[in-house]
Amino acid sequence: MHKFFLIFVFVAVLSSCSKSLSKSEVEQYTIKGAEIAQTTAKKLGGTLVEKMKDGGVKEAVPFCNTTALPITEEMAYKFNVDIKRTSHLLRNQKNKPNEEEVLVLNNYSKLFANNKPMKPVVEIDKSGNPHFYAPIILQKKCLACHGEIGIDVTKKSDSIIESYYPKDLATGFKEGDLRGIWSITFKQPSE
Ligand code: HEC
Repeated sequence: MHKFFLIFVFVAVLSSCSKSLSKSEVEQYTIKGAEIAQTTAKKLGGTLVEKMKDGGVKEAVPFCNTTALPITEEMAYKFNVDIKRTSHLLRNQKNKPNEEEVLVLNNYSKLFANNKPMKPVVEIDKSGNPHFYAPIILQKKCLACHGEIGIDVTKKSDSIIESYYPKDLATGFKEGDLRGIWSITFKQPSE
C-alpha cells in the first residue's frame, strides 16, 4: 500500500515537471494557429486559382511543385513559426509526417470515420514547443487534382501529376474528406 502511494507521488511530481499549457494559453495558440493556417491556405489557394485560370492543371501542378513549399515557408517566416501541411495519403514525399504527426493523423482519421467533430489540437510537442494541429478538409475546388481519377481528375491531369509525383497517393478524395493536417510549431525564445 505504502509502495503504491510512493509511486503515485513520484509520478505526480514527474508530470508536474514537464511543461504544460494553461487553459488560456491553449485558447490563444488555438486562435493564432487557426489564423496562420487560414492565411496560408488563402495565399496558397489564391495563387493556385490564378494558375488554374491561366492554363489549368497543366500549369498549376508544376507551379505547386516549385512554389507550394516556398509560399508556406514565407508565411512561416512572417509569423515566426514552422508551418507544415502533411497527410496520411501523400503527394509530395517532402511533406512526410513525423511520428507525432502520424498519431495526430490517426486520431483525426478515427474521428472522421465515426462522424465526430475534428477540432484543432494544441499541445506541447517532443521538443517542448507549443504545437497547433488542425484538419485540412477537401473542398470542391481541390477535386481537379485530388478527386477521383477519370471523374474529377482527367486522365491527362493524372499523367501530369504522375510525372511529378510517381508515388502519389493523394487522389480519390471526395468533397468533405480528411485530406491531411496543418502542423504549426510555435518557436519559443530560448531561455
Ligand atoms: C492544380 C492542382 C491542385 C489543386 C487544385 C489542389 N492541390 Fe493540393 N497539391 C497539389 C500538388 C502538386 C501538391 C504537392 C505540392 C508540393 O510539392 O508541396 C499538393 C499538396 C497538397 C497537400 C500537402 C500534402 C501532400 O500530400 O503532399 C495538401 C494538404 C493539399 N495539397 C491539399 C489541397 C487542398 C485542401 C486543396 C483545395 C483547397 C488542394 N490541395 C488543391 C496539387 C493541387
